[in-house]
Amino acid sequence: MKKIMEQMAEELSAAFEKAGYDPSYGKVTVSNRPDLCEYQCNGAMAGAKTYHKAPFMIADDVVAQLSDSQIFSRAEVVKPGFINLDVKTEFVAEYMNKMAEDEKLSVETAKNPKTIIIDYGGPNVAKPLHVGHLRSAIIGESIKRIGRFVGHKVIGDVHLGDWGLQMGLIITELKHRKPELVYFDDSFTGEYPTEAPFTISELEEIYPCASGKSKEDEAYRNEALEATHLLQQGKPGYMALWNHIMNVSVTDLKRNYANLNVEFDLWKKESDAQPYIPDMVEDMKKRGFAYEDQGALVVDVKEESDTKEIPPCMLLKSDGASLYTTTDLATIVERMKLFQPDEILYVVDKRQELHFIQVFRCARKTGLVNPETKLSFLGFGTMNGKDGKPFKTREGGVMRLENLIADIDEEMYRKIVENRSVKDKDAKDTAKIVGLSAIKYGDLSNQATKDYIFDVDRFTSFEGNTGPYILYTIVRIKSILNRYVQEGGDLSAGKILPAVNDSEKNLMLQLSGFAAMVENAFEEKAPHKICAYIYEVSNAFNSFYHETKILSEEDQAQKESFLQLLQLTRRVLETSIDLLGFSAPDRM
Ligand code: ARG
Repeated sequence: MKKIMEQMAEELSAAFEKAGYDPSYGKVTVSNRPDLCEYQCNGAMAGAKTYHKAPFMIADDVVAQLSDSQIFSRAEVVKPGFINLDVKTEFVAEYMNKMAEDEKLSVETAKNPKTIIIDYGGPNVAKPLHVGHLRSAIIGESIKRIGRFVGHKVIGDVHLGDWGLQMGLIITELKHRKPELVYFDDSFTGEYPTEAPFTISELEEIYPCASGKSKEDEAYRNEALEATHLLQQGKPGYMALWNHIMNVSVTDLKRNYANLNVEFDLWKKESDAQPYIPDMVEDMKKRGFAYEDQGALVVDVKEESDTKEIPPCMLLKSDGASLYTTTDLATIVERMKLFQPDEILYVVDKRQELHFIQVFRCARKTGLVNPETKLSFLGFGTMNGKDGKPFKTREGGVMRLENLIADIDEEMYRKIVENRSVKDKDAKDTAKIVGLSAIKYGDLSNQATKDYIFDVDRFTSFEGNTGPYILYTIVRIKSILNRYVQEGGDLSAGKILPAVNDSEKNLMLQLSGFAAMVENAFEEKAPHKICAYIYEVSNAFNSFYHETKILSEEDQAQKESFLQLLQLTRRVLETSIDLLGFSAPDRM
């Protein structure tokens, strides 16, 4: 179904043409002066040069063609040549009814569906999931959902970090603590134990300890580097330990992501790229791309137009060990082979931008991807505390994601209980649902590339531009609909009639923008546009609600119309928050 603004533009274009001008001037936009009109067309301004005519004269000619319009109730020329437009309430009501009939609320499905891999989450095994990984999970999940909604085949891959120095550090620390373990006995040929020699909490204590030591003790660090390299070469005892580390951490990670309503299609990891590394490297050498530089193997990726220096992409260190770049390149090889994606999108901290510039350039230059395959990097900003510095615990340590969520849930619980008397168990469950909306909306309502301040008080507020406010609006609608059903009403009856007041018309106009908004949010990979949109819709709904008697309306057809509009509003809001990755409770 055609978007509402497309329908308007069609009529405007026809009017331009009938008046003797090029129809391409007939673009319509939402008014930037809502106090003066609902929509506007600036085509006459743009056409003035071509036609050597004052813009208002062109606008006059066009408006003269709109006198029997089915869409516009008012088309007025204002100097120097804008066309101010208001739409007919009948037209808007009809659009609402068509939107309500459409399963996808008038969003058109992509004509050429693309296969898109989204690389997000990116936690490192054996390190606790901390707030740094929160943004990637939240933003990536939302973009995945939006992409699917507009009809693409989107594959989400967590791309675990499991092949770098942190593994060598853990192995080294274990060796120091428990040298008697069979994993360190080179003459051992039997079966390794199935039980891990550590728990998740031990593991999480081992890593920071080892990491601290390696910064002070060079011999220790070298040992860890060596262990990393031996692991990458498949040393059996280390592989067995790696397996234990993976099992213990992945179980924990899955639980954590499930709590965040984040789901991956693939649980692939850096090490899955290992089998592709030797051939890839050999090939790059053979074709003259890779050369030795101070013992290391590198590929030049600088370009003439560079304004800052882009260092060569390092494939192998002088000891032959692979690096973060190497696994990322080999992962591209694997992804091309397994999925032939049209695009690979990386949702990663923007501080890794240089890494991705190098990887993308190297992949293109050496032909790992087809020329038409898109490689995109969505680098997000830092989540800061109220002091403007990266978010930390009160004690100044790295905040564990679990603790952050628990803090928010507790604050939400306090507010919910304060608000009303709900049963304790219900309030706890509700606090979890609302708490997630606070975290996710707080993050997603900012442009991804910007840093933002994680403000618990503000994010958990029921008022203002927050997740809980949006949920509160949905719950309000649900409760009116429930009451109607309890009174014996039939929610399927009736249809949406022309608006009875300005606030109802405004709500309808807001709802009508849904399809354009979703498509744009996907195009620009910008979940914050969904947040801005639902905030407007919620405000429009709440004004309508305060100004209109709904259930006490005496005219049955009118009452049914209101209830249909409520259901449509609810669907638009619930679909939108699902695209953001959270849901609404029944009560709060
Ligand atoms: N594990 C990495 C980190 O914590 C993020 C991985 C991002 N994805 C990628 N393909 N490099 O920094």
